[in-house]
Amino acid sequence: MSRVSASPEALSTPLKFAYWVPNVSGGLVVSTIEQRTGWDFEYNKKLARIAENSGFEYALTQTRYAASYGADKQHEATSFSLALLGATERLNVIAAVHPGMWHPGVLAKFIITADHLSGGRAAVNIVSGWLKDEFVNFGLDWLEHDERYVRTEEFIRVLRGLWTEKDYSQAGKYYNITDFTLSPAPLDIPGRPHPEIFFGGNSTAAQATAGRVADWYFSNGRTLEGYAENVDGVLAAAAAVGRTPRFGLNGFVIARDTEAEAKDTLREIVAKAHRPAVEGFAAAVKEAGASTKDGKGMWADSSYEDLIQYNDGFKTGLIGTPEQIAERIVEYKKIGVNLLLTGYLHFQEEVEAFGRDVLPIVRELEADLARKNGTELDTSQLPEVSTGSTTALGSTNDLTGSTSDLEGALA
Ligand SMILES: Cc1cc2nc3c(=O)[nH]c(=O)nc-3n(C[C@H](O)[C@H](O)[C@H](O)COP(=O)(O)O)c2cc1C
Repeated sequence: MSRVSASPEALSTPLKFAYWVPNVSGGLVVSTIEQRTGWDFEYNKKLARIAENSGFEYALTQTRYAASYGADKQHEATSFSLALLGATERLNVIAAVHPGMWHPGVLAKFIITADHLSGGRAAVNIVSGWLKDEFVNFGLDWLEHDERYVRTEEFIRVLRGLWTEKDYSQAGKYYNITDFTLSPAPLDIPGRPHPEIFFGGNSTAAQATAGRVADWYFSNGRTLEGYAENVDGVLAAAAAVGRTPRFGLNGFVIARDTEAEAKDTLREIVAKAHRPAVEGFAAAVKEAGASTKDGKGMWADSSYEDLIQYNDGFKTGLIGTPEQIAERIVEYKKIGVNLLLTGYLHFQEEVEAFGRDVLPIVRELEADLARKNGTELDTSQLPEVSTGSTTALGSTNDLTGSTSDLEGALA
């Protein structure tokens, strides 16, 4: 059993759950195994409603402009997120955006409008980029690894400044803002000073930047020991400037009736992996953590099998029975995780099953953990869960753009 390093406040706060919006084709694993997941809007609209009725509070869209590792069709993240916000009632939708592709003032304005249209549910995930061709072939500057984080930090400061201050000015290397007031401001939501700023990255530079400016630090899949290192790195940078960011972690979920079935499914994913695509991806991601001085960061220590789930989701080990997965998730809570970002083979079916079979066990274990550490789980913070059937939301057979797309892309 791992040490409990989470604060009493974190132990009394229920874990939050998010899912990856499948807004790119081909599913979340680079394998020809069947993936009953569509990338089109109708599929995603239904998925988002299932998710918010199943206890998920967040959805994360991906930003991708060009095919790679098989994601040959991609819907743009901010517009897709806005449409999902319009189709849901409670879900917070986090749009991934690249500094270097956007001006922070334009994004700040866009998100304010999305926030007003959705009753305060718009959020962003600031990603610094690893797919060099997207930048170079767009004619944009491709900055060296750590320099990308210098730009990202300035970008986030502008975003927050424009969301929270009037007559905002900021002079920097990449952005210069003079006496700017965005009106209207984002919605005034108690406990939320502005739309939430998530941040994805694993390297030393990413951790330091996240600690200084992000509300939420997001990591790729990690082992318990690996993630504890990330938490320490981010907290050290945050403490130096008196901040307390929260922590999100990616994990690919394979919940089955027996552990053997779950492991067989993982074996099948690996056996049916598309080796040239995975190897191509492995070459492209050398622009990430592996290109830094200390060689640490996203994908830097990933095996061929790990890369089949392109956000290292197998490393988190959410593979087994619902009980085993719930226990594992609570181990992550103990070391500081506040939010689990999840991916699946068959999103609509498995998001619903996760809410039904895994979440109730997580809540029981969280309550036990809180009591053992002299506090109580604050159940008033639990998201509303609908027990009604989701079949009324539409057909479950709407799988446009699923397995066949992946096969096409990998051909
Ligand atoms: C949860 C999460 C989501 C991400 N989403 C995207 C994305 O949508 N598009 C993208 O180009 N990169 C995305 N990234 C990649 C990061 O921007 C960054 O390039 C990557 O983490 C490598 O960072 P590192 O070299 O600092 O470890 C994501 C990373 C994480 C952890």
